[in-house]
Amino acid sequence: MTETLVTVGLGERSYPIRISSGLLDKIGPDLHERKIGSKYGVISDDRVAALYGGRFMQSLAAAGLQAELITTFPAGEASKHLQTIAALSSELAQRGFDRKTALIALGGGVTGDITGFLASIYLRGIPFVQVPTTLLSQVDSSVGGKTGVDIPEGKNLVGTFYQPKAVYIDTDVLNTLPVAELRGGLAEVIKYGVINDADFFAFLEQEREAVFALQQDVLTKLIARCCEIKAWVVEQDEREGGLRRILNFGHTIGHAVEAASGFRLIHGYAVAIGMCAAADLAVRTGCLAAEEAERIRRLIAAYGLPTTIPADLDREAIKRYLLTDKKTVGGRVFYVLPERVGAVKITDRVREEDVEAVLQTS
Ligand code: GLY
Repeated sequence: MTETLVTVGLGERSYPIRISSGLLDKIGPDLHERKIGSKYGVISDDRVAALYGGRFMQSLAAAGLQAELITTFPAGEASKHLQTIAALSSELAQRGFDRKTALIALGGGVTGDITGFLASIYLRGIPFVQVPTTLLSQVDSSVGGKTGVDIPEGKNLVGTFYQPKAVYIDTDVLNTLPVAELRGGLAEVIKYGVINDADFFAFLEQEREAVFALQQDVLTKLIARCCEIKAWVVEQDEREGGLRRILNFGHTIGHAVEAASGFRLIHGYAVAIGMCAAADLAVRTGCLAAEEAERIRRLIAAYGLPTTIPADLDREAIKRYLLTDKKTVGGRVFYVLPERVGAVKITDRVREEDVEAVLQTS
């Protein structure tokens, strides 16, 4: 299987994203050649460590690297807090990790966010690489340098922008991903089609069966296109001063819905609902044709994702969460609204009654 390479171009902080089937066993030789660290600390949750930890550590050792599997933590968002960072920091110090060492995030978004944050603050910053093992982390969170943890007041409220030295995406690991998680990742994939690439959106319309059959060539193409779009956005606006906000399409109302559900809804499912609500809002405010909104909703439904806000969710709670979202600036809520499939605009000029109407009818 040939490998696909995408580069995130950030001057001297540029890095490669390598994508292919069977890549897990080739990471050791690549790290050996690139000499990113004198020793590596592999950070993983208990689920991923059980599935891939042994094989991965063996492949690093076979490549002649000194590497240690750092104590794992329970899989899931509940581990993404400051106590995990404190415990991992102590363990790194006790194991003698110094400024020349590096970290490897082997896992999904939670592991990537924790590891990136830890790498950015341990000894005031050591290098790290991402080995994402969920579709969501492969197409979104492992690329672009957002790191962080949750605090009781909200998700991702403490963190840094800190870019990895490399991202290694092995498409084979998706074979062990629960289908609900795969669908959640596909919501972010559809997002890229809507915000930037009508041809990619059409590709997703055509290739649904191949995607769910985990056909390697289709998966590689799909992941690579998402990474290319994300790299293009991050290269222009690393710290989310403007353009990077387009990556939040579906996340404004989606996050509020997710929070109002008490985080029972899988993140990608909430984003799917948020994308449909944003499309409805765009139709209502006159920037999107109704047929285009219907096309977006159809694709989201075709991938087995929800398209409406669950009836039992309190609309008032959703509104409250919209106003307290961390991306709300000075009480202004920014919406990313599609103008057609493949193009969006960012606006804070949306009338409250339109939002209200969408929340009641979406
Ligand atoms: N996940 C959105 C971003 O990285 O900006």
